[in-house]
Amino acid sequence: VSGIAYVNGLFLPIEEARVSVEDRGFQFADGVYEVLRTYNGKIFAMEEHLQRLARSLDAVEIKNAPSSLMLADIIRDGLHRSQCKEAVIYLQITRGVAPRKRDFPKHVEPTVVMTVRELEPLPDEIRERGLRTITMPDNRWGRCDIKSTALLANVLAYNKARAAGVDDAIFVGADGFVSEATAGNVFVFDGTRLNTPPSGPRILSGITREKMLKLAPELRIPAREAEISVETLKKAHEIFVTSTTIECVSVVQVDDAVIGTGKPGALAMRLREEFLKRVCET
Ligand code: PDD
Repeated sequence: VSGIAYVNGLFLPIEEARVSVEDRGFQFADGVYEVLRTYNGKIFAMEEHLQRLARSLDAVEIKNAPSSLMLADIIRDGLHRSQCKEAVIYLQITRGVAPRKRDFPKHVEPTVVMTVRELEPLPDEIRERGLRTITMPDNRWGRCDIKSTALLANVLAYNKARAAGVDDAIFVGADGFVSEATAGNVFVFDGTRLNTPPSGPRILSGITREKMLKLAPELRIPAREAEISVETLKKAHEIFVTSTTIECVSVVQVDDAVIGTGKPGALAMRLREEFLKRVCET
């Protein structure tokens, strides 16, 4: 079987991997994470992911975590041991194990946990029909730019969407501006330009988002960071969501509004095609 876990220096089967009940990740969601993937067995954009992880660690003041260089070794080692053909790599670092008090514990080593398992790609049927979504008030905290493990609001919103018979939720702030989907960034084509909400505390600026923002102009698709109102969202010619695991997937419905023709749009398809082409060239 493929797949493996890593806990503080040890590799072991995923089912056997354990952390303490007093881990602050468990007690307080006092941790940060990354999700990476491979293409043709090669880790994609590792440097960018490790840089973002370093920023997250810094933002939550988790000190003495392994360096990016050490983490890169752990990831490569894990990937090799996992025997996965195409892997998704989950890496989490928490503040460590200590009696449950709000104070940052002193002299505590961060907990480093990783799982490497076979990537489950988004089913083609869903990609080809496009995502149906509902909007939901963005009730998350004010630092969504930190890739924190505190994802309860995302989990609740996603499950509300599923219970409503759709695929995902798109968060909208109290000011009526779109932030992001429950696990991906949002792009909107207004007929002239591709828009995506600006990086800042309201979104997790995705690695895929950054890649798409660079790629679009190369394909002569004007793209920019700009606030998107919920009205603009619903009138969009095309919408898509980006993340490491799904790359870029069209959204064909937002609440009662049908987007474009109700089928996945040409821009998303074009961008994904080119994205994959470039991934394979590197
Ligand atoms: N999530 N926004 C949120 C809230 C996310 O959780 C993610 C990714 C992204 C896209 O980031 P990237 O392109 O770097 O993957 C945006 C990962 C995949 C997850 O939690 O599973």
